[in-house]
Formats: sequence, C-alpha cells, structure tokens
Amino acid sequence: MSDRSLLVVVLAAGEGTRMASRMPKVLHQVAGWSMLHHVLATTQAAGATRTAVVVGPGREDVAEEARKLVPDAQIFVQQDRLGTAHAVLAARTALEHGVDDVLILYADTPLIRPETLARLRAPLAQGAAVAVLGFRPADPAGYGRLLTEGDALLAIREEKDASAEEKTVGFCNAGLMALSGAHALSLLERIGNANAKGEYYLTDAVEIARADGHAVIATETDTEEVAGVNSRLQLAEAEAILQQRLRRAAMAGGVTLVAPETVFLAADTKLGRDVVVEPNVVFGPGVSVGEETVIHAFSHLEGAKVAARVSIGPFARLRPGSQVDDGARIGNFVETKAAHIETGAKVNHLSYIGDAHVGARTNLGAGTITCNYDGFGKYRTEIGADAFVGVNSALVAPVTIGNGAFIGTGAVVTENVPDDALALARSRQTVKEGWAREFRTRRAAATGKSRKN
Ligand code: UD1
Ligand code: CA
Repeated sequence: MSDRSLLVVVLAAGEGTRMASRMPKVLHQVAGWSMLHHVLATTQAAGATRTAVVVGPGREDVAEEARKLVPDAQIFVQQDRLGTAHAVLAARTALEHGVDDVLILYADTPLIRPETLARLRAPLAQGAAVAVLGFRPADPAGYGRLLTEGDALLAIREEKDASAEEKTVGFCNAGLMALSGAHALSLLERIGNANAKGEYYLTDAVEIARADGHAVIATETDTEEVAGVNSRLQLAEAEAILQQRLRRAAMAGGVTLVAPETVFLAADTKLGRDVVVEPNVVFGPGVSVGEETVIHAFSHLEGAKVAARVSIGPFARLRPGSQVDDGARIGNFVETKAAHIETGAKVNHLSYIGDAHVGARTNLGAGTITCNYDGFGKYRTEIGADAFVGVNSALVAPVTIGNGAFIGTGAVVTENVPDDALALARSRQTVKEGWAREFRTRRAAATGKSRKN
C-alpha cells in the first residue's frame, strides 16, 4: 500500500428521487450494508488517511451512517446542488489541510474495489495532477465521454455539451477521480459553470490541469464495478453483482455452496474452511461460521457467531446475539436470540431460546420455550451443563436450571432448579378404569343415538 497520505471525498448528496423512497438513496442496502457504508469500507481498505463526506442539507441520518464506520469522518453540507465540482468544494477545509492524494467517489457507486482505487491513484505518485476512471458501458448515453489522443486524456465532455461526433465515443467517465493534493484546490476553484447544465463540472478539472501543463491520465476498469445506482432496479442489479462476487470469494476460500445462486451473503459474512451451506440460506450482517460447520437448507442467520463443526437447521433462525459453540446442534424450526449455546449442547426441534445461556452437552427437548418477555422487560434463562429438559417445557424467566438437572416433560418452570435435581411441574395423571365405556352407554341410552366418532 502507498505511504502517501490520502484524503477521500465521498459525495453523498444524491437526492434519490428515482428510488421512490422516504430514505436517502445512499442509505439503501446491498448485501446487508448501506451503499455509503460499502464505499467507506472500500476507501478505508484503500488506505484513506482522512475522510470527508458531503451530504445534502438536513441529512443527519447520512452523517450518522458515515460516522458509524469512520468515527472521525468530517461531514460537510452542500446547501445548493450546483454540480459535482461545487459538491467537492463543500469540503474545502479538508482540502486546505494539505494531503498527497485526493480521491473523489460517489456514494451511489457501491461496487468499486480497493485495488481499483489503488490503480486510479497510482499516476499521482508519478506526478500526474488528475487521474480519471474510464469504462466502456454497453450504452454510453448520459455519461461524460473521455476524449483522448493516444494515451493522453484531453477532456471530458458531458453528454449535454457533446457534439454528434463526440457522442460516438464509447469510453466514458465513471465519475471517480483522483487529484494531486498539491493542485486540487487551485483546479477546483477555477472551474466555471458556462455549460449546458449551468453546473460546476468536476470533469472540467481535466482541461484546466492540461492547460497548466500537468499530466492527466485515464485508467480503464470493468463496467460492473462502476455501476451507479439510481433506481430500485439498479439496486437489485448491484445486489446481484455483489452476491456473485461474495459467493465466488466464499468458494475460493474453501466453502461449499451446494446451490450458490440461492445463498445470500452479507458483505461481512465470514465462513471458515470446509463449511457447507445447503440451498436457500440467507446471511444477514454480522455472521461468522467456523470450520466444517454445516448450515442446512432454508436457514436464516444474522448477528450470530457459530463455531466449528456445528450443525444448523434445516429451517433454523439465528437472530442477533446468538453464539453457538463447537459441536453444538441447532435443529429444525429453532429460533435463537441473544443466546449462548455451549459446546455439544443440542436444541434440535421446535424451540425458541432467547436471552439465555445453555451449558455444555445440555439437551433441550422438542418444543422447549424460554418465556423471556412479559410485555415490559426481557429476562434471562440460565441453564447449566449436562442438563436435560423434557419436551414441551416452558422456562419462565428469570429462572436458573442447575448443572445436571432434569426437567420432566411438559413442565412450566417458574422456580430455580438446583444442580442434579428433578423438577416436575405438571399435574399428576389420573386413570379411571372403564370410565369411557360407561360414558358411552349412558349417553346412548339418554339420546337414543349410537356413538359417533
Ligand atoms: C457525472 C459526471 C459524468 C460521469 C457520470 C458517471 C460530472 C459533471 N459528470 O455525471 O462525466 O459520466 O457522473 O455516473 O461530474 N452530486 C452532488 N452535488 C451536486 C451534483 C452532484 O453531491 O451538486 C453528486 C450526486 O449525488 C452523485 C454524483 O455527484 O452522486 C454525480 O452527480 P450526477 O448529477 O448524477 O452527475 P452525472 O450527470 O451523472
Ligand atoms: Ca449520475
């Protein structure tokens, strides 16, 4: 990685009208993260020394999302939308600070990779003043065209300002740009708005830098990576591209995805070597899975830490705060939340285990439910090691079940159970010999009907 200091300026003032949403565009999610989060994660990975985020007026929600990942990000407000150069200049005080390289990115272009940022930025170290990321979209309409002469980039012409001949150029501006920190402010300040849109175009930095005699470089990248999101359809397209990338990376890392196209990963999903993921599994954010664990079909995991050689599902739901230790088993139709299931414990069928701790090797029978909520507060259930809870038991929290304790089937446990004790909490069975036969005889005589089943 470069040892040159790097200021990243992220333009996040997109209004997102075509999203038909109450939410600002850059907060919409792909693979479990907002688009803004993706861009910031990528710039952090690319070695950002300082981060400036330009937001629209009143967008405290966008500012907060930025600070979540980069707590010392400087937030700037662009009051009026007067163009991309005007937006970058909203971060003037960050630019005045003095830095080797400046990278400008759009928060609605979430698929950009750190390697590409490094490639874009590299010419600055060789003395270039401006570097532009180019791509060749299937349909160039709407994009700024890169006008080149051999290797030299002469200018970027916006669609609305382009001549018929310039419009035939297929090499387009992706929007990302790198500026030498020494020249950035002087270039930006000289950009005017005498163009078809009456906007301050960041792209004009190219011609100004050339007129100053500086080198200006265009670097080409894949169309996929610079796809901008302006609609729900493009959001779904970005999701599909990212999912494909994440699945490939998981498989390259030694994970078996039986039907990759049916498995949905989050950007931060961590899967260990020889994990097997069966079809139709969804990973929300914050999941890690240890080696050789099997996630059976139709399971949903979010905010869960799953250790090695665990079996999850089919049809299991692990909610945030779930921790499942080595060799434990979470079976079908089991939901866990804020629950620590220790080594070798089993919760195999039809259970809800919330705000709980289950000790090592303990077996929770089918239909064990922790009653953790009374409409006001949440309460904890503590279960020791080597315990056995009979099927269809309700554990009414707060309650503690000791090590090695045994709970008879069908219990409603409201009191603590000591180590190695048996707790029965159900009514005793009564048997009346011959009662059913006498009942039928009596009712048949009284009604004149024979028994109906
Ligand atoms: C811009 C580029 C164009 C490039 C295209 C790639 C300019 C002048 N043109 O065009 O060459 O091909 O991106 O997608 O730079 N923004 C602000 N404040 C503003 C204006 C824009 O924050 O006043 C932000 C937007 O939220 C958006 C980004 O800058 O994230 C691009 O703005 P947009 O108006 O979409 O530029 P394009 O016309 O698409
Ligand atoms: Ca755009």
